[in-house]
Amino acid sequence: MEIIIQPDVEAASRLAARFVARLIRDKSRAVLGFATGQTPLPLYEELCRMHREEKLDFDRITSFNLDEYVGLDPAHPGSYRTYMWTHLFGRINIDPGRVHIPDGLAPDIPLYCEKYEDEIRAAGGIDLQVLGIGTDGHIGFNEPSSSLVSRTRIKTLTVETRRDNARLFGGEKKVPHHVITMGLGTIMECRTCLLLAFGARKAEAVAQTVEGPVSAMVPASILQLHGRTIVIIDEEASSRLRRSEYYRYVYEHKPDWQKV
Ligand code: F6R
Repeated sequence: MEIIIQPDVEAASRLAARFVARLIRDKSRAVLGFATGQTPLPLYEELCRMHREEKLDFDRITSFNLDEYVGLDPAHPGSYRTYMWTHLFGRINIDPGRVHIPDGLAPDIPLYCEKYEDEIRAAGGIDLQVLGIGTDGHIGFNEPSSSLVSRTRIKTLTVETRRDNARLFGGEKKVPHHVITMGLGTIMECRTCLLLAFGARKAEAVAQTVEGPVSAMVPASILQLHGRTIVIIDEEASSRLRRSEYYRYVYEHKPDWQKV
């Protein structure tokens, strides 16, 4: 894992946007994996700015989202479809035909999940997957105790995650219990993972992910076994890391050709 500590959310998000933009410029048919939630909002804002002001071209990219609530009307303000079209897709020149967001209303969910995996494979796999992390260490909605080799499937959210996500539902009780999420095995096949985490609330999950043992109880820790994971965090999210000085030192002494 490469751990990059930035002074604040803005600097971290700008750096993350440069990673995404570099991939798109190098590979016009790039396949991008997107996450939702609070964390990637400034990244998406910066990508929209790059599209507007620097002509970053999304025309030929393909996208796959990590997850979606089961049984929720896609037009609901809390759905991840609404989120993606509001914060990113509706503001860039992505081809709607190449956008993939799990269908939480699919009548046969196991069959649908297999199809989602097939679509990722048919697109050539995901080049870069944007990830946030839950306070309980989840990525996607692979909650603690998820199989470390799991594939896209239905999952039940923890009480903690439903509480964390209550904002757009007008109360915790209205947050759906189930989601469709890419599995940890699915995420591990992405060529690059870009994990973002901001704020003191995420510090413990980040420390366990980066420096703790690989464990299904901290699903994000499986990324220790991924060949190319970049973790971009702000100062607060880095506050529980034991080796933060070393990570800063590594980043400051990168050879020029490795810098973004
Ligand atoms: C959302 C997702 C989740 C979030 C995580 C953090 O698509 O996959 O893993 O990334 O719950 O959410 P925020 O960013 O709202 O703290």
